[in-house]
Amino acid sequence: MDAKRQEDSISVAAQQVLPQQANAAGNIHGGEIMKMMDGTAGIAAMRHSHTNAVTARVDELIFKKPIKIGDYVTCTGRVVYTGRTSMEVFVTVESENLTTGERKIALTAFFTMVAVDKYGVPTAVPPVLPGEDVFSQKLYESGRKRYKENRERRDRKVEKRGDTRFYDIL
Ligand SMILES: CC(C)(COP(=O)(O)OP(=O)(O)OC[C@H]1O[C@@H](n2cnc3c(N)ncnc32)[C@H](O)[C@@H]1OP(=O)(O)O)[C@@H](O)C(=O)NCCC(=O)NCCS
Repeated sequence: MDAKRQEDSISVAAQQVLPQQANAAGNIHGGEIMKMMDGTAGIAAMRHSHTNAVTARVDELIFKKPIKIGDYVTCTGRVVYTGRTSMEVFVTVESENLTTGERKIALTAFFTMVAVDKYGVPTAVPPVLPGEDVFSQKLYESGRKRYKENRERRDRKVEKRGDTRFYDIL
C-alpha cells in the first residue's frame, strides 16, 4: 500500500458549547468533549484507511484548560503513526471565547484506532509519513514509542495472563 501524509487525514469538527452540555458551574462535561474527540479521531482514521475504524485505546488525554458555555470549540485530528492495522490519531481541542477572541488549547489526546473489515477483523492500513516540520516528526516518533511500549506490554501480559478478562491491563 502506498504511504500517505499525516495532513491527508486531517478531520475537523466545531461547535458552540450549549448549556445542556455543561455542569452547574458552566464548564463543559468531560464526556461531551471526549465524545467529540472520539468522533474526530474516527473520521481521521477513516480518511487515512478508507475502512471502518474502532477505538482501541486512548493515551495521554489531558484536560489543560476549562471550556465554558458559549465557547466555540474546534476539534482537530490527524493520523500521526501507523502499525499494521492500527493508527494513532493526535487530537487537539481549541476553545475560543467569542466575546474576547481569546483562544487556547484546552485538551489533547492520542487515540489508537484499529481498521476493521465488515466482520470486525483488523485489516492492514497504508503507512503514514511524517511531514517536513519538526512538530510532525516529533508526533511520529512519540507515536512509534507508544506503539512499541503498548505492544510489548500487551504481548508480555498475554503470556502471563491468569484472569483473561483483564490480561492487558494488570
Ligand atoms: C480493537 C480490536 C479490534 C483489536 O482486536 P484484537 O483481537 O486485539 O486484534 P489484534 O491483537 O490483531 O490487534 C490489532 C491491532 O490493534 C492494536 N491493539 C489492540 N488492542 C490494543 C490496545 N489495547 N492498545 C493499543 N493497541 C491495541 C494492536 O497493536 C494491533 O495493531 P497493529 O496491527 O498495528 O500492530 C478489538 O479489541 C475490539 O474490537 N475492541 C472493541 C473496539 C470498540 O468497539 N470500540 C468502540 C468503543 S467501545
